Amino acid sequence: MPSALNQFGGSPLSLKVIGHNAGTSMDGVDLVHVHFTQDSPRAPLKMQLLHYGEYPMPKKLKARVMKLIKENKTTPEEMAIVNIQLGEVISDAVNWFAQENNFSLASDVDLIGGQGQTIWHLPLPELFEGNQSRAHLDMGEIAIIAAGTGVTSLGNFRVSDMALGRQGCPLFAALDSLLLSHPTLNRAVQNIGGIANFSILPRAAVEECYDFDTGPGNVFIDAAVRYFTGGQQEYDKDGAMGQKGKVDQSVVDRVLQGPYFVHDIPKTTGRETFGDRMAEDICDEMLARGATPEDCVATITRITAQSLADAYERWGPPGGVDEIYMGGGGSYNPNIIKYLKERLPNTRIVPISEIGIPIGAKEALGFALLTHECFVGRPMIVPKRTESDRPGVVGQIQPGKNMHRIRQHVAQFWGDFPEEDVKCTTEMILLPSLCNS
Ligand SMILES: Nc1ncnc2c1ncn2[C@@H]1O[C@H](COP(=O)(O)OP(=O)(O)O)[C@@H](O)[C@H]1O
Ligand SMILES: [Mg+2]
Repeated sequence: MPSALNQFGGSPLSLKVIGHNAGTSMDGVDLVHVHFTQDSPRAPLKMQLLHYGEYPMPKKLKARVMKLIKENKTTPEEMAIVNIQLGEVISDAVNWFAQENNFSLASDVDLIGGQGQTIWHLPLPELFEGNQSRAHLDMGEIAIIAAGTGVTSLGNFRVSDMALGRQGCPLFAALDSLLLSHPTLNRAVQNIGGIANFSILPRAAVEECYDFDTGPGNVFIDAAVRYFTGGQQEYDKDGAMGQKGKVDQSVVDRVLQGPYFVHDIPKTTGRETFGDRMAEDICDEMLARGATPEDCVATITRITAQSLADAYERWGPPGGVDEIYMGGGGSYNPNIIKYLKERLPNTRIVPISEIGIPIGAKEALGFALLTHECFVGRPMIVPKRTESDRPGVVGQIQPGKNMHRIRQHVAQFWGDFPEEDVKCTTEMILLPSLCNS
């Protein structure tokens, strides 16, 4: 199917990518199957979502990884085993995803890429006691994924970004801005995963986006619910437990005066700072003063909700945000959304599914885009308000059986395009999704 050559002697690009994401909540691996096309290097990139799925994290492995992170005391043996096992889970997830949706890994997938499970994320060591260094580690061995699927697999995007002088997280500003930057509206994209992050998209400026983590999203809520149900329940489904409790505002205010919340942006965080133990301590303290488990969950939920609203006021664009697009599992918690709407009455708050992206798919989609741009050899938009504006292609590549074919395809796309003119993508068209969101 040779197509017309463009002015640089190149031919159109067409790559199908599986993006995967195992978030901080450790509930599972989110998967997207995406088709990227581009007529020539200066034409807009087109993106179409073909399939979306979620593969549950096996309970035994989840418990093992949670223990490893919570105790922060492990052996090289444990680290090596967990890295392989997480790679196997992601490989199994990808194989299941293709089978479930009747597509072939050999002919319908060119690249697989994403993030393994975050094991350690310490971007702001100055907030910790002791002599710690900035570091990030996520695990899910890409050699195992490539061997288990036959497909060239990418990973380590966060470490790559950190190597360029930034924090390696949240890493979604570029996708959010390409999807939702608007000529006259200030917008934000909010993801409430285990940790909550948002991208601010000032109007009419696709490259002026910036992103950061506000703090806990669901991690505390999940930890509290696990604590009170002896692990029987993993999260507060539809906010049912929190709804029955009474918020202790003094606890919320005290927690929100903690060092992370008052720290200026850029800032990102993880379970190292907002771990289960901190949530359990809050619960113990409240129980000792006569609170019910429901009161504890209500209070902990409010910590998340209020930290989001405070962050919009403090770090949002002048004049506020006109619209917020919500994603991540915490968007299903009405106790968070109701409070946000009360605090931001002039802001239209809608689920990101309004533009055809399932609520749980956004971050996997971010990794699909990172995977695509890395393999094509382009840097991503560098967000503003970070420590470094150094651009760079982020990610690492493990060749699979298809490496030669896809490498040739990308070389044919570039043709004689001058290397010094290769820039980040600043225009992307989202084609109507083919999956039900
Ligand atoms: N119906 C729901 N009601 C309340 N919370 C929910 C619901 N569905 C999912 N969640 C929350 O979302 C979390 C998963 O969100 P997700 O976006 O996958 O986060 P991560 O990226 O950290 O894995 C769950 O742990 C749970 O706390
Ligand atoms: Mg998840």
